[in-house]
Amino acid sequence: MQPNKPLKGAEFGKRYPRDEMITQVVRNGIPRTVMQGFSSSVLPDRDLSDIIAYIRSLTPEAVSGENAM
Ligand code: HEM
Repeated sequence: MQPNKPLKGAEFGKRYPRDEMITQVVRNGIPRTVMQGFSSSVLPDRDLSDIIAYIRSLTPEAVSGENAM
């Protein structure tokens, strides 16, 4: 299995409205999938916040924001 869920778009934004929710998934992983958790020893907080900023940059505010249609 490969990464198969786009980390962008309105649906993703609805599932993960807050950055901490992404942090939780990356730190803990998703049970029974190949999405393992990445601890801070392999992925420092600083790098994770860069990754989250990048993920957020993939979806314009107009699509992800609460006022999006
Ligand atoms: C630091 C790197 C990674 C980040 C930031 C990341 C982030 C995420 C996030 C946020 C989700 C939730 C997506 C959603 O529910 O819409 C997800 C799911 C997933 N990731 Fe990762 N991931 C990373 C690395 C990987 C790697 C290396 C793999 C594969 C070897 C992987 C495989 C998956 C899969 C298969 C899912 C979907 C699981 C399901 O069926 O719900 N991810 N990932």
